[in-house]
Amino acid sequence: MRLIMMGPPGAGKGTQAKFVAEHFGIPAISTGDIFRANVSQGTPLGVKAQGYMDAGEYVPDEVTNLMVRNRIDEDDAAPGFLLDGYPRTLAQVEELDGMIKFTGHSLDAVVVLTVDAEEIVQRLLQRAEVEGRADDTEDVIRRRQEIYTEQTEPLIDVYRGRGLLIEVDGMGEVADVTERIFAALDTVAQS
Ligand code: AP5
Ligand code: MG
Repeated sequence: MRLIMMGPPGAGKGTQAKFVAEHFGIPAISTGDIFRANVSQGTPLGVKAQGYMDAGEYVPDEVTNLMVRNRIDEDDAAPGFLLDGYPRTLAQVEELDGMIKFTGHSLDAVVVLTVDAEEIVQRLLQRAEVEGRADDTEDVIRRRQEIYTEQTEPLIDVYRGRGLLIEVDGMGEVADVTERIFAALDTVAQS
């Protein structure tokens, strides 16, 4: 299975990606998590990414694309993968198309989690108290939402046009959302 998990900041991508990836026996690849690990280790990639992340801006495509290309090349991603937070721009969509085509496979589905704007802010402010992520302040959350609307929301129509889009209601209990995703994806896995 080659899957994408999309949705606005705080929609629950990372939370659900873990369960879905485990279900299908594939790695969950979160670009945000890889960037944060590099920032905390002070690697050259982390140094490049940090300023953008702290401001809620996207890291430049060429940096992100190369990082994903290298990650997808690893052995554990040969049977498939779930991408959380990539692609986020039209240029990244094209780049990913090339990477997958090169392996002779194709994308199976794009899951989009839909969650009310108010609920999202509540979830992120709550997470800020627990995890203290640098980009979970009210101003930066707002900027992340804006940039999602401008740059990433248009991807929904692209994948809908390809017949790959699965929209899932991301409101309510975590386990209920997981069940909805499994129900939608199991039909894809059987087809
Ligand atoms: P990234 O780390 O991907 O951040 P994001 O998209 O803003 O999304 P989050 O991780 O904040 O939210 P999520 O949807 O994963 O929700 P979660 O499960 O955590 O990216 C960070 C930055 O990296 C970007 O801003 C950018 O700078 C850079 N970057 C990353 N990818 C890039 C790319 N492709 N191109 C360029 N730059 C890139 O849930 C949120 C909270 O809600 C958690 O506390 C969770 O416990 C809770 N929660 C989850 N589900 C529920 C539920 N059903 N009910 C109640 N609470 C819930
Ligand atoms: Mg996340």
